[in-house]
Amino acid sequence: MAAGRFLFLAIETTCDETGAAVLEGPRPPEPGVPIVRSSVVASQIDLHERYQGVVPEIASRAHVRQILPTIDEALHRAGVTLGDLEAIAVSTRPGLVGSLVVGLTAAKSLAMALDIPLVAFDHLEAHLYACQLAYPEKNVYPCLGLVVSGGHTSLFACRGPIEAELLGGTIDDAAGEAFDKVANLLGLGYPGGPVVERAAVTGNRAAYAFPRSFLHDERLAFSFSGLKTAVLYAIRGQDARAGISLENPQQVADIAASFQEAVVDILVAKTRQALKRTGLRRLGIGGGVAANARFRERIEAMAAEQRIDLFIPPLSMCTDNAAMGGIALAKLAAGQVADLDIDVTAGLVRPKNKK
Ligand code: KG4
Ligand code: ZN
Repeated sequence: MAAGRFLFLAIETTCDETGAAVLEGPRPPEPGVPIVRSSVVASQIDLHERYQGVVPEIASRAHVRQILPTIDEALHRAGVTLGDLEAIAVSTRPGLVGSLVVGLTAAKSLAMALDIPLVAFDHLEAHLYACQLAYPEKNVYPCLGLVVSGGHTSLFACRGPIEAELLGGTIDDAAGEAFDKVANLLGLGYPGGPVVERAAVTGNRAAYAFPRSFLHDERLAFSFSGLKTAVLYAIRGQDARAGISLENPQQVADIAASFQEAVVDILVAKTRQALKRTGLRRLGIGGGVAANARFRERIEAMAAEQRIDLFIPPLSMCTDNAAMGGIALAKLAAGQVADLDIDVTAGLVRPKNKK
């Protein structure tokens, strides 16, 4: 290890992925972006597949089984031991309460046993920080942040990595959740994003005129439940229009492509509106839906047209992972060390009740 470098472990268990990563960066409070020495993600997809969605109790029990082997593997791949670590970082909000508790308990135990600082970070701020990790030589902040995941579709004005102000978000389903539910309706499997994207490749995006909620609304809000219902009616039939056969690949592809285009239209339009409103000239994007190729293509085109600097992490850093816990370095630089009696916060903390 280079002299003066700072080595720390990050833990991520907000939902259904058990993540551990070892990072190395400048010693706080010196500013700088850490490098990822190792990042391990133990997926639970096979456990939740038969239910077509995440079952919270199954997720927390799987985290209990996977957390120590995942941490061991991250240390092993980085070629370090527990004694080399100088801080333990963990995401404590928002997420599934039973899942969050497992990561926090592991993090507290390590911090106490090793007598090193515990750092608690926000999962959504961390999703956006993945942009900074992906472009270490650039200034990503201040930026508009868009988190598009299975649980959230939120726009933030980010003054810095740990200063994200919520501008607006979904009032019902998240974008990723809509992909998961539509995949289920189309009988495509789980998780929905990648399978709907694959099915959409051969589909006609204009085959169905699905609704685009809030598109012409002043509010920076999203809604995807009407879209999901429209997809349901298109599949089952309504208003004298026959439904489709799930056995017919072209019909499935047309629905998938038309649905995906509606989601992408909404995400791109609301992001453009938020850029205009805030005057921010940089855009950072995080979360699983940011892995979608059509979304990336359309958001890149919008950013180019608006002359906005766009930052999107590589696919492995879009979906849940612990490397994005590198944000802990910014927290340590700001003197934000957590007490050992800190608890998790399952829900999204909105600005008005933020403590
Ligand atoms: O960020 P993430 O891994 O976990 C949460 O924090 O929720 O996001 C998972 C979500 C799932 O809903 C999944 O269907 C969606 O991201 N997703 C995608 C793609 N890959 C994952 N959605 C659209 N296209 C994709 N390629
Ligand atoms: Zn996430």
